[in-house]
Amino acid sequence: MFHNHFVCRIIFPALLVAFASGCSGGKPAETPAENTAAQSAPKVFTIGMSQCNLGEPWRVQMNHDIAEAAKNHPALRVIFKDAQNQTTVQQNHVQEFISQGVDLIIVSPLEAAPLTGPVAEAYERGIPVIVLDRAVLGDKFAMFIGAANTLIGEAAGRWVVEKLGGEGKIVELKGLMTSTPGQDRHTGFRKGIEGSGIEVVFEADMRWLQPNAQSEMESALTRCPEIDLVYAHNDPGAYGAYLAAKAAGREKDIIFVGIDGLPQEGLAYVEQGILDVTFEYPTGGAEAIEYAVKILAGEEVPKNLVLPSRFYTKENLADGGEWLE
Ligand code: FRU
Repeated sequence: MFHNHFVCRIIFPALLVAFASGCSGGKPAETPAENTAAQSAPKVFTIGMSQCNLGEPWRVQMNHDIAEAAKNHPALRVIFKDAQNQTTVQQNHVQEFISQGVDLIIVSPLEAAPLTGPVAEAYERGIPVIVLDRAVLGDKFAMFIGAANTLIGEAAGRWVVEKLGGEGKIVELKGLMTSTPGQDRHTGFRKGIEGSGIEVVFEADMRWLQPNAQSEMESALTRCPEIDLVYAHNDPGAYGAYLAAKAAGREKDIIFVGIDGLPQEGLAYVEQGILDVTFEYPTGGAEAIEYAVKILAGEEVPKNLVLPSRFYTKENLADGGEWLE
């Protein structure tokens, strides 16, 4: 649906009014008439968006949310780039956006540490950066937008303790542990099961990817005669684990827990009885555009915007899930 350099361009006066002055640029007008036209020509603000990967439905949804929100601000032009899960490609994206002189950068980093330098460089050169979903280190960016991964992990842990009646053998399939959601979903979960009789009998980093989760689960099934539950850091991971269990004829004995809660993915799995629960992880795409507009208009914005999350089970699905506190 989105190409590497997918460009969405629209024209709209609202944002321009705020910016009409001081944002000319391009070749000087030759006649007074042209000059007037140039001065009143709508200013287009270019946003460079670097997506770490478009392999998972959740990231396709994030780009879609950004593109849809941008349609309401026709003065915005969004250039989408896909790093295809390669850190060096994503570092280059930020450098390219800096050289191009975009007005603002949105980045959803693959990994925290390697993206910190490029993001800080853009920021120091006066290009505001919105970091979305996965964080970078330090504070050299305009704003971070994302859900509370530690809280989600902890809520998942508490849900598991309750579901298993305080004890059982479980598998944890972790998201990429060099990314902050992987770290936080792990730490939160371990806190959530603390003091209970839950034993983690197998854990592995499946790097957010369904095929990796599937093969890690195959190993877990071979090694562990008893597995009561799988906690995967995202729904593709939980589904990969389910497929492995199904192939081994053990899926009916295991409870599957995921995170993301996309209607077409996690919620459909809950509906079908594949997952017992999924925790919503909002993309923040619409909010990124909402706050980009504010930043471009020179407004103050919070440094951190924490998005709310809810969880969905078969019982609460029809009521729109239950919000986490
Ligand atoms: C997609 C994804 C989501 C997950 C998020 C964490 O790449 O793995 O499934 O919730 O990234 O950043």
